[in-house]
Amino acid sequence: MSDLVEVRRAGDVSILTLRRPEKLNAISTAMERALGSALDHDTVRSSRALVLSGEGRAFSAGADVTEFQDRDVAAILAYYRDTGAVYERFARLPIPTFAAIHGYCLGGALELALAADFRVADETAVFGLPEVSLGILPSSGGTHQLVRLLGTARAKELALLRERLDAAEALRVGLVTEVVAEGGALDRAVELATRLAELPPLAVSLTKEAIDALGESSREAALLVERIGYAALAQTDEARAALDGFGK
Ligand code: COA
Repeated sequence: MSDLVEVRRAGDVSILTLRRPEKLNAISTAMERALGSALDHDTVRSSRALVLSGEGRAFSAGADVTEFQDRDVAAILAYYRDTGAVYERFARLPIPTFAAIHGYCLGGALELALAADFRVADETAVFGLPEVSLGILPSSGGTHQLVRLLGTARAKELALLRERLDAAEALRVGLVTEVVAEGGALDRAVELATRLAELPPLAVSLTKEAIDALGESSREAALLVERIGYAALAQTDEARAALDGFGK
């Protein structure tokens, strides 16, 4: 396995660490490939929740800008069918995911963090989307995720108006789930992930997938999926075990 992404396990939680600290964990195509392999790893596939963090002084300073030059339209579209697809794969994992963020979380790194279900930051976290200043735009799902998470005006503010957001501002606008003291993001994310890993896993993954899928659906479709989901989950051993003992 590549050294660029470390995979380890704490109980039922898998912990992935971006490991290119000398470049502030800049996300190269090699790192994207390593992340994709990590998601396929048995350690991850058998876990019940996942935490993604970065080694060194930053979560990540974003996409590796040294790889941006001289890519024509065909090369860029091919990239999104290859390693660039990992952001969407990460977003679609059936288990709950956390980004544990310290230091810089810029550009593609913020897009990766936005693909997680929860973002736990420490006080040193700094967020930003430098893409427009580089003449491009966030294009690994970030604009869509931001609009869903923050609404259009805040998404435009972050992408166009604000160079940087500190942890307190990120919490205020709803970009992060929680802010903890310096150095505490990973432990706190693992603590929350462990809590989710203890819940009935089918119910957790179906709830995650329903919330992701139904955000833009009609009320009728949402209610139908909720009720079919409930009817299916109610038949499972985990639901029977959880309800066993109540009302007896
Ligand atoms: N891509 C490639 N390399 C990067 C990088 C990136 N996104 N971000 C940082 N690095 C490299 C630097 O080139 C430097 O390498 P070097 O030591 O071989 O020169 C190393 O990481 C450390 O970064 P440095 O710039 O020295 O740290 P700093 O604390 O002075 O500044 C930043 C930190 C994040 C402000 C600055 O590195 C930066 O602006 N990076 C680019 C951020 C960006 O535009 N990301 C989004 C792309 S969409």
